[in-house]
Amino acid sequence: MKEETVQQILSRYAHRRSALLPLLHLCQEEAGYVTPEAIGQLGERLGLSPTQVAEVATFYDMFRLKPGGRREIWVCHNLSCSLLGAEEVVRRLEERLGVKAGETTPDGAFTLRRFECLAACEIAPVIQVGPDYYGPVRPEDIDALLERLRNG
Ligand code: FES
Repeated sequence: MKEETVQQILSRYAHRRSALLPLLHLCQEEAGYVTPEAIGQLGERLGLSPTQVAEVATFYDMFRLKPGGRREIWVCHNLSCSLLGAEEVVRRLEERLGVKAGETTPDGAFTLRRFECLAACEIAPVIQVGPDYYGPVRPEDIDALLERLRNG
């Protein structure tokens, strides 16, 4: 972790352990996922046990504990999205990417993941890629979406 950035983050909090979530984000940004080494280092710096750090990292879906694709495609499969066709969207993505949800494409470009509510039910069914939301998404939109993502 970049020490300067760590210090900036720590300076925002009265209690060091309160910086755990932003520091987990930093670790993931730098390494692509939260490594076992990062869990140990964060524990030491924040006065937490590795188990306590791991408990937080595994609680939140946005943290990855193993390497994944360069981009993650998150598909909501909660109630509103499911009622409006999320399963068909997942099936089309799996077919086009050649992987099952939870897997990474062989070229390392994409990891496809199912998510619970992405908090954008008004545009269900929803896909999130990084900070961008897409919806309502239909299976026939998937080819164009993947093309756009592949081209940056
Ligand atoms: S149920 Fe899919 S975004 Fe809320």
